[in-house]
Amino acid sequence: MSTNEELIGRTDINDLEAILSITNTEVDAVAHEVKANYDTIFTWDYAKGARPKLNRLYEKAKTSMWNGETDLPWDTPVDQEQVVVANAIGMSGSLTGGVDVSGTPFAKWSDQDWINFGCESQNWTLSQFMHGEQGALICTARIVETVPWIDAKYYAATQVMDEARHVEVFAKYLDTKLSGHYPINAHLRLLLDDIIADSRWDMTYLGMQIMVEGLALAAFGFIHQLTTEPLLKQLLKYVMSDEARHVAFGVLSLQDYYQQLSTAELKDRQEFAFEAATRMRDRFLQQEVFDRMGLPVKEVLSLVAQSPERLVFQQMLFSKIVPNLKKLGLLDAGAKPGQPGWLRKRFEELGVIQFEDWADTGEEYEMFQLANGATSAA
Ligand SMILES: [Fe+2]
Ligand SMILES: [Fe+2]
Repeated sequence: MSTNEELIGRTDINDLEAILSITNTEVDAVAHEVKANYDTIFTWDYAKGARPKLNRLYEKAKTSMWNGETDLPWDTPVDQEQVVVANAIGMSGSLTGGVDVSGTPFAKWSDQDWINFGCESQNWTLSQFMHGEQGALICTARIVETVPWIDAKYYAATQVMDEARHVEVFAKYLDTKLSGHYPINAHLRLLLDDIIADSRWDMTYLGMQIMVEGLALAAFGFIHQLTTEPLLKQLLKYVMSDEARHVAFGVLSLQDYYQQLSTAELKDRQEFAFEAATRMRDRFLQQEVFDRMGLPVKEVLSLVAQSPERLVFQQMLFSKIVPNLKKLGLLDAGAKPGQPGWLRKRFEELGVIQFEDWADTGEEYEMFQLANGATSAA
């Protein structure tokens, strides 16, 4: 059985020093290579609809395409500072998030410092979404090659197009409406590298479709509700209508496949899911933002990590992942009767097991559909 040290490089999941020791050392690079060695599979079985649920998703995807250039109101003026203030007031009634900051490095911050922080935080968040979207673009192009079933190759091809559009719209929003980019967060990059480097086709699905996209769907939903900026709201609504289908694609494809795997093979998948969950949680600490704001990162993060709002947000990010992993049977695979499963115990430690009975995305993706087709959505 693998230890935490082997899976995530540290014994204590909450070891802040170890988390912060992982940083992006290639911040000025314009390209990043990952070596991969995998089998590309041709199939000569062209019987469309052999997997009816995937076929249905494919047919839906074909009629749900939208155009990032023409379907979004790019002429909406965005005053980022005003948006930061409006969002903060809307959420907690004050710029400081309603937290008592006396005795902390934040105590001497002016209103303008808080506004600058809000802008940097937004630049960081949308930059990481953009990088994650590129990860999805690359992973689904890989799935077209490696998945053995024609219905899945067809569907994955539509997702490649969706992801190109998502990278495009996040990049355009960052370039034309916000005030700067951030390089990819080191924890997110490690996770994407691990997914890409794995030669087993179902690991691309598990890492990307279930873990990264499950988290993105939850995070987009949270920001969609919270933001007062109408263009971003619309952009996220469009992106989410695609993402829900993508997560469903993961659940529907892996469900059957996992039933044929041995306990040892499922254990590998459980460990991979735990590693991915931890890396995603670590990335949300936003260490680069505090660094750019000139704050002592470790001191500040030990405060931030304990804030109740942060904990709720962090846990909520797993609200799609946990029920989907349950549906795939990974929470309790390999457990002795009456005993909790390995992944269930890990998720208890991460404080996210309470989501296990929430709706899984294999079922709920139709809820996210845009009304009357993509282009007519309000
Ligand atoms: Fe996407
Ligand atoms: Fe996606």
